[in-house]
Amino acid sequence: ELGPYSHFMQKEIHEQPKALSDTIEAVLDAGFSAELFGPNAAALLPTLEGVKILACGTSYYAGLTAKYWIESIAGVPCDVEIASEYRYRDAWANPKHLIVTISQSGETLDTMEALKYAKSLGHTAALSICNVRESAIPRASELVFYTRAGAEIGVASTKAFTTQLVALFALAVTLGKVRGRVSDEQQAQFLDELRHLPGSVQHALNLEPQIKAWADKFAAKNDALFLGRGLHYPIALEGALKLKEISYIHAEAYPAGELKHGPLALVDSNMPVVVIAPNDSLLEKVKSNMQEVRARGGELFVFADLDSHFSESEGVHVIRTPRHVGVLSPVVHAIPVQLLAYHAALARGTDVDKPRNLAKSVTVE
Ligand code: M6R
Repeated sequence: ELGPYSHFMQKEIHEQPKALSDTIEAVLDAGFSAELFGPNAAALLPTLEGVKILACGTSYYAGLTAKYWIESIAGVPCDVEIASEYRYRDAWANPKHLIVTISQSGETLDTMEALKYAKSLGHTAALSICNVRESAIPRASELVFYTRAGAEIGVASTKAFTTQLVALFALAVTLGKVRGRVSDEQQAQFLDELRHLPGSVQHALNLEPQIKAWADKFAAKNDALFLGRGLHYPIALEGALKLKEISYIHAEAYPAGELKHGPLALVDSNMPVVVIAPNDSLLEKVKSNMQEVRARGGELFVFADLDSHFSESEGVHVIRTPRHVGVLSPVVHAIPVQLLAYHAALARGTDVDKPRNLAKSVTVE
């Protein structure tokens, strides 16, 4: 089953161009039409006043990315909450806010219970973004989008994450379309960007040898810091989670602007700092945050796309990701952080596919 790969995680990382193409195919066929999310969606989506996303772990980080898209492309307020927190608080509910759950397995207990709780508070419509057909969460939801990642076996979620991002991006554009905010021309442009996405992801996968060389250095460290801003902050979070989960290296992620509000105190020459720094509108801000790290002796490992114009210098290592792909850039930048975690774990000899203390599907509290 593993073919040329050593682990399911590695296989699943490399399956991403195909998983993405398969998922994108559904979007290309329907062209951002409400039916993508099920027969009830056409009546429902135009009446919405907001979106509330509930999920756990990596799926939660997909939700955090979606917030940027949903607010900027669709102009709809969006909040994202960890399912295990939401289910136990006295939450305020607006029935006109669509509940969106994100779950690879469709069986995560906390997400399922959060969905039931939302319903009990008066939310009438829920959309499930899920990778497993007919699992519990989509069965309990009015609207469904199935990602087409194929079975994900490694405990660390990889291809499920990037296909969730595509589903959420499609939701943002579709919401924008039904609200008259996204023109035909913009839709055509977004479809084109989706069409090119698997190619850019393949490009990122081809960076594996360079990333492995970095990972070998990380393997000797006890801690790591991940920084990103805007759309790439959730990718920093995802990179830190992947590294913790499978290599057991302590890792934290921050939006780079937060450094001076606390975490900068941790930075010294023993602290590798990974920066997700593509050429977006926040790049200059990220560059000045990087100087703050360098000034404290921190070693920087920067993922910068071809348009970011970074050069290597002492203590600053750069890997060039593909050409900037606009708002879909988080999908491309998920790849290098997955590969970094995978190779750091390999170098440390941990059980990559079955990390200690963790289960693939968390069906208990
Ligand atoms: O199946 P789900 O997407 O609901 O799972 C949620 C989390 O348990 C999951 O993403 C977890 O964080 C992964 N092991 C991360 O790699």
